[in-house]
Amino acid sequence: MSVSKPLPHDAAALHVTGQARYIDDLPLPKNALHLAFGTSAIARGTITSLDLDAVRTAEGVVAVLTAEDLPHHNDVSPSPSPEPLLSEGSVHFVGQPIFLVVAETHLLARKAAKLARIDYDEHPAILTIDQAMDAKSHFEDGPRIYQKGDAASAIENAAHKVHGVFEIGGQEHFYLEGQAAAALPQEGGDMVVHSSTQHPTEIQHKVAEALGVPMNAVRCEVRRMGGGFGGKESQGNHLAVSCAVAAALTGRPCSMRYDRDDDMIITGKRHDFRISYTVGFDDAGRIEGVDFLQLCRCGWSMDLSLPVADRAMLHADNAYNLPNIRIESHRLKTNTQSGTAFRGFGGPQGMVGIERVLDHVAHAVGRDPLEVRRDNYYRAMDSDGPVQTTPYHMPVEDFILHDMTDALVASSNYVARRAHIKDWNANNPILKKGIALTPVKFGISFTLTHLNQAGALVHVYQDGSIHMNHGGTEMGQGLFQKVAQVAAARFGVDVSRVKITATDTGKVPNTSATAASSGSDLNGMAVKAACDTIRARLADFVAERAGLDASEVRFEDGQVIVGTESHAFDAVIADAYMNRISLSATGFYKTPKIVWDRIKGTGRPFFYFAYGAAVTEVVIDTLTGENRILRADILHDAGASLNPALDIGQVEGGYVQGAGWLTTEELVWDDAGRLRTHAPSTYKIPACSDRPDIFNVALWDGENREDTIYRSKAVGEPPLMLGISALMALSDAVGACGEGYPALDAPATAETILMAVNRVSE
Ligand code: MTE
Ligand code: MOS
Repeated sequence: MSVSKPLPHDAAALHVTGQARYIDDLPLPKNALHLAFGTSAIARGTITSLDLDAVRTAEGVVAVLTAEDLPHHNDVSPSPSPEPLLSEGSVHFVGQPIFLVVAETHLLARKAAKLARIDYDEHPAILTIDQAMDAKSHFEDGPRIYQKGDAASAIENAAHKVHGVFEIGGQEHFYLEGQAAAALPQEGGDMVVHSSTQHPTEIQHKVAEALGVPMNAVRCEVRRMGGGFGGKESQGNHLAVSCAVAAALTGRPCSMRYDRDDDMIITGKRHDFRISYTVGFDDAGRIEGVDFLQLCRCGWSMDLSLPVADRAMLHADNAYNLPNIRIESHRLKTNTQSGTAFRGFGGPQGMVGIERVLDHVAHAVGRDPLEVRRDNYYRAMDSDGPVQTTPYHMPVEDFILHDMTDALVASSNYVARRAHIKDWNANNPILKKGIALTPVKFGISFTLTHLNQAGALVHVYQDGSIHMNHGGTEMGQGLFQKVAQVAAARFGVDVSRVKITATDTGKVPNTSATAASSGSDLNGMAVKAACDTIRARLADFVAERAGLDASEVRFEDGQVIVGTESHAFDAVIADAYMNRISLSATGFYKTPKIVWDRIKGTGRPFFYFAYGAAVTEVVIDTLTGENRILRADILHDAGASLNPALDIGQVEGGYVQGAGWLTTEELVWDDAGRLRTHAPSTYKIPACSDRPDIFNVALWDGENREDTIYRSKAVGEPPLMLGISALMALSDAVGACGEGYPALDAPATAETILMAVNRVSE
């Protein structure tokens, strides 16, 4: 059967031969125009004069638009809190769009944008977490608090306690394809928009609002993105709306793309956090109570910050049973780029917080951190005793990390390697090695419950070829291939028969963003439903002829088998067409069982959990702080994988991206709020050579206990958090330099490591 086959990405050949078309490769009509933003040079203030004369008269400029020139809504926000596309007189971060240049070429638009003369009345900017806390600059009235049991008295009564403060940096998405859009005006005021977006329906919605037309006048199409990683959930709105507005005003096609520096300066990033913790525990390191304060820097606009910060709270337990816990979360408004979705959506920040706590507790009791982690794990899925609940009171019914950890400890030879590293460190004064195993338990579903729905449209043409469409978008993760495998399996045909088509709001409406890792769960089920509708019609048709029951019809190996007869799929389709059987259907799916109250912090926000565990070994140079990942061993749970090759790719990529976030990827703002790391020269994502020399990745052989598409599990985001093991391995290596607790902040750059080495060896 085509599901579960390790087929390559459907566009792999197109990717490597350069034939795959991204937005900027689409051939545009000759009269197309190109756009660029003029942006704020200061972090906070009001504009006292805006002189655009030089911009308007610059070579190739066709139009220059400010907020006043916009025909309808000036709002690109994905949340209820408005976010102007163009400044309405005040500016809130360095890089905020103030005006829009429409010119004959991309370069002329960018050049003209630099010619504006803008005077500001500058106000003191709120840049840091401390400044925001002092100024009480919040997005919600009070902090959000989730709790279970009584953390304060459990900590008070515990035999031991430690307290710590942990800084966690943000992260730039660094998708290879920058943000891009193109809008093509149609007759009667309609608009077709091509956008590099994870959320075509949101583009359609925002463009319709900006043009003052109903959504049925706008169609958004997305064939693929060159990576999104959450950075194209909302951040593409600005370009798509700009293109549509300019196209409507000029009657000419408009295209816009950010160059890399602009992309990094203008668009949102992963939220940085400061997590303070106080934890009470027994002699063995079993946690009795823990109190978290999560301070989340959200930037200037609300964007998706509330659900991101919620998800950080929802992952403050990771894999651990915490009977008494209090989590207080502040969503801070600052004069910096907006924080936005980024693989894991706040989950990684919450999770690295509790992993830091476990690391600290293990150090305090002098035990192997793995043993302390295991002793705090939730109870195993099939063990005796009542089911334990998360801090948000959801029963953990599918906990498989005990078995997974045993398997990974064995396959990675953890115990012997840990002993060997101890000896090695004793004999090596300059270089020190470290090793750590960390688990991942990640909740699958959008926490905004209504988003957990999807649609599909499937046609079978009279020659037996299949045309498949659904609401999910392809960003490199392999969603289209997995869902095509589902369609092929439903009809019992080879996947080569299934044409994968661009996501299109005109084919499947009201879709959710391809996000929360739920792409294949949701769209796989919707496509299955559509295929099964057609399949049932075909089964009725052939069964009736054979005088049998439709339940006796099977679709296998390109054949339709009814009783003792077997017909080629093509022949059955041709026949069905001649007999006027409808060969087209829509499908719909909504995730069952989920209920969630985000204010109270109780319910079942997740349909199920995806699990994983990683062992990382590192070496550091104690004189310079330089370091390397020597080896990583991973065991990851993708349920009954729809495509093990693609899933392993997701696990490898996720791990490396997560390790990059926590080690080399450092965002630096200066005191004026200017992002100083806005190009690959200063912002260090992992290169191919930073991949672990030894990289053993395996999938856990299991099924989802919930009824998901072929019992698979979502795999897009969870592996990012396997990268936490790299940070904890670095902590282990630094710990080998002295008695003190390393208290490594993230990213643990060479500089951070060197300072920690000096601290512990004092
Ligand atoms: N993998 C690749 N190659 N490129 C991406 O942009 N995005 C990640 C993940 N894996 C991403 C990726 C994110 S943030 C999510 S939410 C999921 O893929 C989305 O796709 P899925 O729901 O189909 O897994
Ligand atoms: Mo992924 S951060 O949910 O787009």
